[in-house]
Amino acid sequence: MATDDNENCLPAGKMPVIRVPARPADQNPGGSIFGGWIMSYVDIAGSIPALDRVRGPVVTRAVDSFEFKKPVFVGDLISCYAEIVSEGRTSLKVKVEVYAERMKKGDMSCVKVTEATLTYVAIGDDRRPREIPSA
Ligand SMILES: CC(C)(COP(=O)(O)OP(=O)(O)OC[C@H]1O[C@@H](n2cnc3c(N)ncnc32)[C@H](O)[C@@H]1OP(=O)(O)O)[C@@H](O)C(=O)NCCC(=O)NCCS
Repeated sequence: MATDDNENCLPAGKMPVIRVPARPADQNPGGSIFGGWIMSYVDIAGSIPALDRVRGPVVTRAVDSFEFKKPVFVGDLISCYAEIVSEGRTSLKVKVEVYAERMKKGDMSCVKVTEATLTYVAIGDDRRPREIPSA
């Protein structure tokens, strides 16, 4: 399988939209972090470039793809990167990549843990789809 150049480090030259540490309360009984905790941050992260772009409210219409590539553990520092990959008339798709920085015996490692694409729809006051303004 082809490997991603950024698979084992934070993407150079990009700013994460969210950074948050995983805490003991976020753990599942299997000892890794609950997938729903990560999904929630992915949804929030994806909405940020969408909100910036449409200059108004957006709602999540679909999760087009979602992959938990590697587990997240207590103490990991999660960084979510999000960028718009396509635009329609009222909707846009955002790719979100999540990396975990992990300290173990004094050594810091970094791994890509999650990758997802979500669709957000711009809505108006009537909560119906609203045309995305020109850039
Ligand atoms: C978002 C919502 C207003 C859209 O209403 P709708 O009747 O589906 O609107 P439309 O059929 O006109 O579709 C709107 C856009 O979504 C896209 N869309 C619809 N279904 C989709 C799907 N399953 N996957 C991806 N995009 C989809 C359409 O292609 C269209 O985009 P475009 O204008 O860029 O071509 C409505 O579905 C809704 O309120 N959903 C609940 C949202 C929500 O509560 N999210 C969770 C909390 S934020």
